Amino acid sequence: MTIIAPSILAADFGHLQDEVASIEPYCEWLQLDVMDGHFVPNLSFGAPVCKCIKTKLLLDAHLMVANPADRITEFAAIGCGNITFHAEAVQSTNDRRALMSSIRATGATAGIALNPATPLSAIDDVVSEVDLVLIMSVEPGFGGQSFMPEVLEKVKELRARHPDLMIQMDGGIDTKTAPLARKAGANNLVAGSAIFKAKNRKEAIEMIRG
Ligand code: DX5
Repeated sequence: MTIIAPSILAADFGHLQDEVASIEPYCEWLQLDVMDGHFVPNLSFGAPVCKCIKTKLLLDAHLMVANPADRITEFAAIGCGNITFHAEAVQSTNDRRALMSSIRATGATAGIALNPATPLSAIDDVVSEVDLVLIMSVEPGFGGQSFMPEVLEKVKELRARHPDLMIQMDGGIDTKTAPLARKAGANNLVAGSAIFKAKNRKEAIEMIRG
């Protein structure tokens, strides 16, 4: 079954708990879009804000930050079940492996993310060791952008090479692009605007899940 991870970036931050409660019965994960204003131009929120969210959903921290190693302890402390860092922010294999083990030591699974322009070869060194690969279908930093279909080739290739890998897609995922993502082999879909801006959030999630 496809995991659906609504992204709180598109939610009403003034009513975050209610926003999460409105989608909680229909999905499995909740994505926390952590942005530091350096790795990506936008500045979103940190662990102190996410700590206020009470949910049974698996908290999925997407660290769009220049120094992800500095954030692991605090996001583990709020109970994140998955923590994903960007391949572009951690270039050396040793650093990637150290980061993955520090994430796993907290009990969370470790994911690595690729921006649209970053080729799969950029993670050849660790792809068989990570728990999740996030293929971005927009340039990270902002919600509400248009899906970049050219990244589907990366998903297809990754799925062909790694039949059992969790492949997540994030960016412009909606009722129209979700079927493309699933067909290409993604089994974990992040959606912000398509869910939180929908008239019927339950229906939007069901259509994205397929
Ligand atoms: C980009 C963010 C967004 C967000 C989802 O940095 O990571 O992709 O999660 O935004 P939508 O679903 O509105 O494109």
